[in-house]
Amino acid sequence: MAGPARLRKVHSVEEIHDIARRRLPRTVHDFIEGGAEDELTIGRNRKALQDLRFAPRTLVDVSTRSQETTLLGTPVSSPIVLAPVGLAGLAHPSGEVAAARAASAMGVISTLSSSASWSLEDVAGSSTGPKWFQLYIWRDRDLTRQVIERARAAGYLALCVTVDVPVSARRQRDLRNGFVIPPRPRLRQAGDLVRNAGWFARLAKSELSGHGLGMANFTAEHLGVRDRLHMFDLVNELFDQSVTWDDVAWLKSVWGGPVVIKGVMTSEDARRAVDSGADAVWVSNHGGRQLDGLSGTAEVLPGVVAEVAGQAEVYLDGGVRRGSDVVKALALGARACMIGRPYVYGLAAGGQAGVERVLSLMRTEIDVAMALLGRPTLESLDETALTSHR
Ligand SMILES: Cc1cc2nc3c(=O)[nH]c(=O)nc-3n(C[C@H](O)[C@H](O)[C@H](O)COP(=O)(O)O)c2cc1C
Repeated sequence: MAGPARLRKVHSVEEIHDIARRRLPRTVHDFIEGGAEDELTIGRNRKALQDLRFAPRTLVDVSTRSQETTLLGTPVSSPIVLAPVGLAGLAHPSGEVAAARAASAMGVISTLSSSASWSLEDVAGSSTGPKWFQLYIWRDRDLTRQVIERARAAGYLALCVTVDVPVSARRQRDLRNGFVIPPRPRLRQAGDLVRNAGWFARLAKSELSGHGLGMANFTAEHLGVRDRLHMFDLVNELFDQSVTWDDVAWLKSVWGGPVVIKGVMTSEDARRAVDSGADAVWVSNHGGRQLDGLSGTAEVLPGVVAEVAGQAEVYLDGGVRRGSDVVKALALGARACMIGRPYVYGLAAGGQAGVERVLSLMRTEIDVAMALLGRPTLESLDETALTSHR
């Protein structure tokens, strides 16, 4: 694990990724990094952000700057949110607990995946910071209802319903690696076993202690599924493929608080989300892990913003690796950006301190970009800050 001194010497998400890559077994890194089929959508996410270019205003007084904002009424220090990442315990034993503590320390929101390796109660009790809960709708509606009620009782502030996983995509890397949950060392990973002996020792220890690297919010017996499963089979056995927009009203009534629809990629779906009662629309293609061949999220963002402006908050994720990416998305009308893989790299590199380093680097980059753009406040950041939109 990289100590604080080592972490202070890295100056970008990509450098933290380099540390993470060295610390994780190949199959685990592939699980985190990989996308569906030919990984075209992953590439489009980065390209769409990189293709946007700034139009700076010079000689503006930028001596006082702020990136504070509110998300669904909750004040945050920066427009960055930790996206839900299932099985974050694969990256670090403290997984989602460490991520939530880092977010809390940095004054931002963390979103817990319903497929987390720590239970929602453990994560809720581990820090005082604001948290959202992400939901997959399972075939077993009673179980779905119970999880929503547990999340409400535990104090989660918003329910993020992920709508882009009716079935699991085919992730080539996981299929090739024979990635199963909970993970199991395989003979063909013998090289990994030697290189990452510490990681495998941790796997054995956590399985012995009963806190395995599976999904903590439900157990296999709970759902009547077989022991070790490929992600593909697990999702296809558990998730309800018949969910429609009509179910959002049911979710809202069970939850009773703000609902965010995560996985919107068209203005039509953004409209349906708002008409179904959503309080926020999360533009996402699951970080390129679901349908391959989609646009980059920054390409579809302006259409979504135009459709629901003033009726719902709009967020974006997918390929956000620099503070300047956040600034670009905000210029196009997003209220915040979510990050997935970047903070998982932080977890793998240094646990809570690693996630804090990622957040602090991105916050600094946002601050510098705002100053250089001549837009010292989030209110002053609009589409005039980008050349392609002038
Ligand atoms: C390893 C991994 C696991 C994920 N698990 C979930 C999940 O359980 N639920 C969900 O809604 N999204 C999940 N996502 C998608 C993220 O919430 C987010 O949409 C995506 O990571 C954003 O792209 P980025 O990784 O390029 O930042 C996962 C992403 C990764 C990388």
